[in-house]
Amino acid sequence: MLLQIPGALSAEQVAQCRRSLAEIDWIDGRATAGHLSMSVKHNDQIREDHPVAARLGRLIQGALEQNPLFVSGALPAKIVPPIFNRYSVGQSYGPHIDGSIRSANDGAGRIRTDVSATLFLCEPDEYDGGELLIEDTYGSHSVKWPAGHLVLYPASSVHQVRPVTRGTRIAAFFWIQSMVREDARRRMLFDLDQNIQRLRRDVPEHGAALELTALYHNLMREWAEV
Ligand code: NI
Repeated sequence: MLLQIPGALSAEQVAQCRRSLAEIDWIDGRATAGHLSMSVKHNDQIREDHPVAARLGRLIQGALEQNPLFVSGALPAKIVPPIFNRYSVGQSYGPHIDGSIRSANDGAGRIRTDVSATLFLCEPDEYDGGELLIEDTYGSHSVKWPAGHLVLYPASSVHQVRPVTRGTRIAAFFWIQSMVREDARRRMLFDLDQNIQRLRRDVPEHGAALELTALYHNLMREWAEV
């Protein structure tokens, strides 16, 4: 499932990230690339142990924990602290697959990457190119959304960032270990949850909402690892 979360960060929170990121040193992104992706990765990143990365990471994680759409779509168990990257003219990240296990440097231990997330920190008109292309069984999806928007997609997908041909693209990215490992099951739980909320909104007195909520939680009991 590819899910768009508009306004994951407010305009003020985006501005705060941009101000902090403008003042720090960036390093070659290949520092964190695996063997295979090393040759296709051309971007800049912030050191993962940089205090600014840690501070902005907490801001982002705090905002997402309060976001019902994010929680419903990702069913997060653990989140890898966000990493920040920057693509200038000529930079890109060719087709690759993200590693399955990450070690978080914040004491959370090892995390299985079930869901990948990219948070856009630039407006689409600030740069040309730089689309995130995600492959799934339905083909290739091109994602280039406004600042503050987040995309969630299965970490099992091959993906790439197309070359930037004008301006600069800045984003945060991170991974989530979900309480529900299988994408298809997460998708069904998400659809069920969204429709329960719709029913509660449109027909608040309808008794089926209680039964469907019980079904949701019983499925979670079957499928969730906590
Ligand atoms: Ni990637």
